[in-house]
Amino acid sequence: MAEELVRMERISKYFGRVQALNDVTLSVQRSEIVGLLGDNGAGKSTLIKILSGALRADSGEIFLRGQKVEMRTTTDAIAHGIETIYQDSALVTQLSIARNLFLGREPVKSPRLFNRLDQKSMNKAAGELLRRVGITKNIPSTTPISALSGGERQSVAIARAMHFESDLIILDEPTNNLGVEETKGVLRFVRSARDSGHSCIFIAHNIYHVFQVVDRIIVLRRGKKVADYIDPKKTTIEEVEQIITGMALDPNS
Ligand SMILES: Nc1ncnc2c1ncn2[C@@H]1O[C@H](COP(=O)(O)OP(=O)(O)O)[C@@H](O)[C@H]1O
Ligand SMILES: [Mg+2]
Repeated sequence: MAEELVRMERISKYFGRVQALNDVTLSVQRSEIVGLLGDNGAGKSTLIKILSGALRADSGEIFLRGQKVEMRTTTDAIAHGIETIYQDSALVTQLSIARNLFLGREPVKSPRLFNRLDQKSMNKAAGELLRRVGITKNIPSTTPISALSGGERQSVAIARAMHFESDLIILDEPTNNLGVEETKGVLRFVRSARDSGHSCIFIAHNIYHVFQVVDRIIVLRRGKKVADYIDPKKTTIEEVEQIITGMALDPNS
């Protein structure tokens, strides 16, 4: 039996007079990879920012494993096992890989030395994590993020999400500005996330990328959910494109 991990129920959000989201309900099962598609401005980022605590909805509710939760801040969401990877990864470029991996959750040596970071154990854990996400080049974890390529930065952000055993990993256009090999790495990660029991919400401009990795597709158009439960194995890319642009209706409705 599929188990519902997250449910966003009847979410609405205005920015001034612009209604970014209109009564959107979205659910994600455990170990499910959901693709969230829609044209620019459809409301995708707004929806996932509400789930990740970066924005508050004007109305609607969020349930985690059936329990109603409040996502007041991104820290709340992280504490609930929801990790978000944005296009720009939200990494601090001046800080090292290791510091970024543990940002806000740094291991400390002892309670007495609270706030003194345990650099050595951080660097060691960072090295192991980087190998897990496929950075095989020997990059010292003391390297600043600014010295890394786009793909390597995304890998660091992904390593962060994996390390903290997030139940739900949200990727908002993670492959923008990435090279071919780097993109492959991100797609490989999304696939492997399912195998290790994680759930994902995957937003990407490139509909081909979405088709390659997701179990199910949801489409937003101008703040409204216009399709859900699209099975990429039974639907063509052209059909989904028509739903995105409003030329066709949800095949399941
Ligand atoms: N911080 C903001 N202030 C004002 N309007 C915003 C803000 N964020 C998003 N919007 C508007 O909300 C709508 C949805 O945007 P967004 O969620 O970013 O869409 P998507 O991610 O699908 O491209 C757009 O009309 C956008 O201009
Ligand atoms: Mg967006």
